[in-house]
Amino acid sequence: MKKRIAIFISGRGSNMDAILRQTRDGILRDACELVLVFSNNPEAKGLETAKNAGVPTECIASKGKKRENFDKEVINFLEPFKIDYIILAGYMRLLSPLFIRTYQKRIINIHPADTRAFQGVGAYDWAYKNKLQKTYATVHYVDEGMDTGDIIEQRELDISGMTTLEEIEKAGLALEHKMFSEVLKKLFENEQ
Ligand code: GAR
Repeated sequence: MKKRIAIFISGRGSNMDAILRQTRDGILRDACELVLVFSNNPEAKGLETAKNAGVPTECIASKGKKRENFDKEVINFLEPFKIDYIILAGYMRLLSPLFIRTYQKRIINIHPADTRAFQGVGAYDWAYKNKLQKTYATVHYVDEGMDTGDIIEQRELDISGMTTLEEIEKAGLALEHKMFSEVLKKLFENEQ
């Protein structure tokens, strides 16, 4: 059975777009169905991308709402869709314990660093400013912390020859786009 996935975004949505393409006619075609793209931010550019591709979208603005109240709204909204996995792709909001419990071990995030070394926003900038020779992309389960859940897979990115943040970001995103779908494919297939 194909897994039913919802992708959560807050902004650009390039990782969402990469997964969307792989579900359409790529390596995720037989592994999952992209049921919905959700955002907490009405301005998220990725919402347009998903709409243009014919994927159902929903936005519930989180601004000014208490974490648990907002998450309850989202849980209620999602319930009828019978989602197997929530995929966080640049979803910049910490999930409440209630949400984590509701989708226990079924929420997956991508983070553009080794999650043991750097958590939160701005990982490429951190790598750049610290003149790292290499950094990582990490796909991990989501728990109640910020980028702290069990690691599913990490891939290394050699940034030793790179002199600008833009260069690092471009190479990093290319790695993320490829890696995220590959890891999801393995995960979903192992669960059949
Ligand atoms: C990606 O680099 C993703 O790994 C990162 O935000 C970017 C979203 O870009 N996530 C985090 O930093 C999570 N802590 P996108 O919207 O184009 O996919």
